[in-house]
Amino acid sequence: MQSCLSTVKALADETRLRILRILMTGTYNVNELVAILAMGQSRVSRHLRILSDAGLVRPRRQGTWVYYGLTGLWEGETRSGFLPSFADELSANPLPLAGADDRGIKACLGRRRKQAEQFFSSVAERADSQRDEIEGPAGHHSVIVELLGENNGEPGTVVDLGTGTGRLLPLLARAARRVIGIDGAREMMDVARRRAEDEGDLEVELRLGSLEHLPLGDGEADAMVANMVLHHVANPQAALREVYRGLAAEGRFLLADYESHEFEFHREKLGDLWLGFDRDELSGWLELAGFEIESERELPGNRRRPGVFVMACKRK
Ligand SMILES: C[S@@+](CC[C@H](N)C(=O)[O-])C[C@H]1O[C@@H](n2cnc3c(N)ncnc32)[C@H](O)[C@@H]1O
Repeated sequence: MQSCLSTVKALADETRLRILRILMTGTYNVNELVAILAMGQSRVSRHLRILSDAGLVRPRRQGTWVYYGLTGLWEGETRSGFLPSFADELSANPLPLAGADDRGIKACLGRRRKQAEQFFSSVAERADSQRDEIEGPAGHHSVIVELLGENNGEPGTVVDLGTGTGRLLPLLARAARRVIGIDGAREMMDVARRRAEDEGDLEVELRLGSLEHLPLGDGEADAMVANMVLHHVANPQAALREVYRGLAAEGRFLLADYESHEFEFHREKLGDLWLGFDRDELSGWLELAGFEIESERELPGNRRRPGVFVMACKRK
């Protein structure tokens, strides 16, 4: 009864309903929520505390920053419990300030995207050497290729999401009939194009575009690979929905990224937006987007680099 009362009390406030509605679109830190709501930090923090105490919202630490998300999504739950039906109600009957909030969300995600684009445009020529210097060479590329060929042999069209300098392109071109590389930073694509030419005219097509609005037709790809890119994406959940749209029925998605970590310097030196992912949380996002997880591999971290996971998923 007590928890039911605190839930109802927490919901009985327009600002808190606005916050819940905003968090239905993703996870945000306090500064971002302050900007979206156009409200002082102490008020926003007080509302977040009430929502957290009622168990509706859960803070999650990302290094020294704290992000807030709806409890169900953090926990990897999909459509159970009280909040989802309430969320449908909130979508169907928008609040008076919903328009302003939507504009705030758009601006916030735009700032996150711009930050990633500016970072990669400025480091393109030294991106590979900088990463190797900090972390040492990546050990999981062969795992990606191995998992790609698992189950159904050579895939037809493979898309390398956030292809960057195109490091994976030669490996993918040997493992698939057709390869498309997509990236949001023109300067990174220039390096990838040079690599494709230098490696004896690899048969790859490069397309400029965002993971959240992929330059791909519905079902165009038989498989997609996202290697070390999701932690740069402004709205990872939206990107996973796009991957689903671009994959053919039963198409496969290979996702390699960092485990949740505390290497704070990754933000500044490597332009990372998210300090890795909690795999339970990510599994919830993947299921919600329509994927079934087929297998997972872990590569432990060390003093220089966080642990890395590779997840092989299938479009349901
Ligand atoms: C760390 S690099 C990874 C490159 C590559 N996947 C590899 O294996 O070496 C990340 C790349 O993702 C791209 N990127 C980041 N966010 C993106 C987004 N939302 N849409 C498209 N590309 C994005 C960046 O421009 C950058 O080239």
